[in-house]
Amino acid sequence: MFKFDFSNNEEARGVLNDKNEENKNLTWLPATEIEITDEQFSKKLSERDYITITFENVELKMIKSESAILNLKAKKHDKIIKAESQHSDLIPAIYEGGLKIWECSYDLGKYFYSQNIFCKNSKVLDLGCGTGIIGILALLKGCTVHFQDYNSEVIELVTIPNVLLNLEDRQKIEKNTQFYAGDWERFVELLIKKYPNETEKYDVISTCETIYNSYNYQKLYQVFKQQLKKDGVGYIAGKVHYFGIGGNMKEFEKLIKTDNVFNVETVWRSEEGLQREILKLTHRH
Ligand SMILES: C[S@@+](CC[C@H](N)C(=O)[O-])C[C@H]1O[C@@H](n2cnc3c(N)ncnc32)[C@H](O)[C@@H]1O
Repeated sequence: MFKFDFSNNEEARGVLNDKNEENKNLTWLPATEIEITDEQFSKKLSERDYITITFENVELKMIKSESAILNLKAKKHDKIIKAESQHSDLIPAIYEGGLKIWECSYDLGKYFYSQNIFCKNSKVLDLGCGTGIIGILALLKGCTVHFQDYNSEVIELVTIPNVLLNLEDRQKIEKNTQFYAGDWERFVELLIKKYPNETEKYDVISTCETIYNSYNYQKLYQVFKQQLKKDGVGYIAGKVHYFGIGGNMKEFEKLIKTDNVFNVETVWRSEEGLQREILKLTHRH
């Protein structure tokens, strides 16, 4: 998990201010759409390449991080290899952590199953998808799913292989999925151009473990504001506090409430371990 931890709050605040300054000077990647290639469709992965995880009665195959890292090395994706070799979960604007499965995506997956959230033919956005667990659960329920991750390398070497491991019908995959990489600010602009009509927006937008960097809150919030249908539902799963790097649920929730466009409620809270929550957004009519 995250490596920064400050026992002294004053010190933490000082570091956070510095961090916001640093963030301003970073170059955030443009947004692009990524297609699944013929090579990816025909590649056969063996049992050694994946693990199996279970959600209720569904078994999902997920590519092992070691296999993904080998592929990163083969493709010479040096920046992410560097982050991995430094055992760094993320490097702002370079690598945002999507190679592995984060705790809250299990929370949200379980919650979605218990509440039967995904309806056949709904249009779902798995925002900051990483391995794509949530989107794959939705695909298996017959939804159309758009997957978005900051890093194109994650989409190429983890998200797409995971989709292909869990669904076999090429035509269905081509019809029901889209993949995007890049920064949320540019991603929203791309979607607004591509899908200007209300009917083309999303029925469900979900995001897990994406509120750790408060510098990105406006960009993240704008995806919900601009792209969720009037009767759509948004879900944000995350830790209550990201110690040492400053992001926290309360601050993100405050931003949403201040804008007064959505109703926001906490629909789930963890009872043990690090405190985690799921927020639900619906439009105020
Ligand atoms: C910690 S990972 C969580 C991955 C996955 N949702 C999970 O829970 O396993 C955070 C994700 O947020 C996304 N992300 C963070 N900052 C972003 C930004 N500025 N623009 C686009 N995506 C971003 C990245 O795609 C990254 O995979």
